[in-house]
Amino acid sequence: MPTEKIRHIALVGHMGSGKSTIGSLLGNLMNCDHTDLDVVIANQAGRSIGVIFAEKGEKFFRDLEAQALDSKLSTQEPLVISTGGGIVERSSNRILLKEKSFVVWLRADINILVKRVNRRTSRPLLKEKDPLEVLTKLDRERGNLYEEIADLTIDTNNMKATNVSEVLFDSLKSRLGVENE
Ligand code: S3P
Repeated sequence: MPTEKIRHIALVGHMGSGKSTIGSLLGNLMNCDHTDLDVVIANQAGRSIGVIFAEKGEKFFRDLEAQALDSKLSTQEPLVISTGGGIVERSSNRILLKEKSFVVWLRADINILVKRVNRRTSRPLLKEKDPLEVLTKLDRERGNLYEEIADLTIDTNNMKATNVSEVLFDSLKSRLGVENE
């Protein structure tokens, strides 16, 4: 593959869209490393995302998130990168993502996302809040931003993570195949 064609695959979308699980499955299918920005941030900070929010606030977290994104997008070998739902909030992140990765938006209806996030309660933005209210508001703020930077959108409603990763892999294979000709 010519060097200029090597691009990371970045998964974007709301909380509950399956970015972490699908990213890991896709990394296996593509035989390349997968990295989850929330895990990178938590490891570097030595504390969970919830504790970072609680102790240092959201702005501090967003700074760490921007640094982690920049650092991962600068690596030479191609990566599958699972981002956090708020990665699109900063325009500098959106510019970097567009420039240095093939962006995949894992789209899902809000009522489906609500069901998925209800199973996990560790997310600081949802703590003691109504997930439907929070996700509806975030969708108004971020929905267009995901759309704006996406090179590919996959509708994940009613799909299992394994299905999504396979559909995505097939789609990427044909696109990368065309790019490599
Ligand atoms: C956030 C989403 C979370 C995490 C943090 C903030 C957001 O990641 O980065 O809690 O702003 O939507 P997931 O999208 O993986 O839940």
